[in-house]
Amino acid sequence: MKKEKDISRLAFLVILTIILCFASSAIAEGLSPIKLPPPDLKGGKSLMQSLQERKTSRSFNTQKLPIEVLSNLLWAACGINRPDNGKRTAPTARNWQEIDIYVALEEGLYLYNAKTHALEPVLKRDLRRNTTTFLQPSRMQVANAPLQLIYVADYSKIVFGANEEDRIIYSSADTGFIAQNVYLYCASEGLATGVRAMVDRDALSKDMMLRDRQKIVLVQAVGYPQ
Ligand SMILES: Cc1cc2nc3c(=O)[nH]c(=O)nc-3n(C[C@H](O)[C@H](O)[C@H](O)COP(=O)(O)O)c2cc1C
Repeated sequence: MKKEKDISRLAFLVILTIILCFASSAIAEGLSPIKLPPPDLKGGKSLMQSLQERKTSRSFNTQKLPIEVLSNLLWAACGINRPDNGKRTAPTARNWQEIDIYVALEEGLYLYNAKTHALEPVLKRDLRRNTTTFLQPSRMQVANAPLQLIYVADYSKIVFGANEEDRIIYSSADTGFIAQNVYLYCASEGLATGVRAMVDRDALSKDMMLRDRQKIVLVQAVGYPQ
């Protein structure tokens, strides 16, 4: 009896997963994957100069970022810098690599795939403003940024030897490294950026159609200075 119940539960979960896969691909319909050009590893200011210029900006203009800049930015954030073992520019506890970078652009929401160095379509919807609902009126210029990076921890990747508190601590720390990489890249390229914890996580998670074990950690606006 128990075995039968287990089998029908499993069948239900498989069917649900298939339906969800179809539903999400239907929602992203009309949004094509974006293959990013290889990152330019030679450009930019020195590390010490970039540290000297790193800062949080809250004023952006609406000018879009060229695809080359997007490529360099995402590679700097958390791209693969050792193809032989798939490790990244940012460290993660036990190499869990549990932080996903969602890229909110005007044309839609994408997921950065470090392995293919490409943006995978998630939703054909402009969610940039949905990241800014908690902003004070004096900081509304953050909503002008052409790009909002949304750092999402996938708790289902933090499996063995970690409890729920560990998951929060590790994924927060791991996000910090990525965000600092973005800060330094932006300083090096004269771009404006600013990280935000004040985000309506519940509403944004729903808008992004995240799974239960996916948790929004921080959002980071990137663009040209106002
Ligand atoms: C974890 C974290 C959360 C932050 N959340 C916000 C935020 O919600 N809104 C905001 O305007 N700035 C936020 N900031 C930016 C800080 O206010 C900023 O880093 C601080 O004032 C120091 O300025 P600096 O980055 O230019 O050195 C956050 C920074 C960190 C590290």
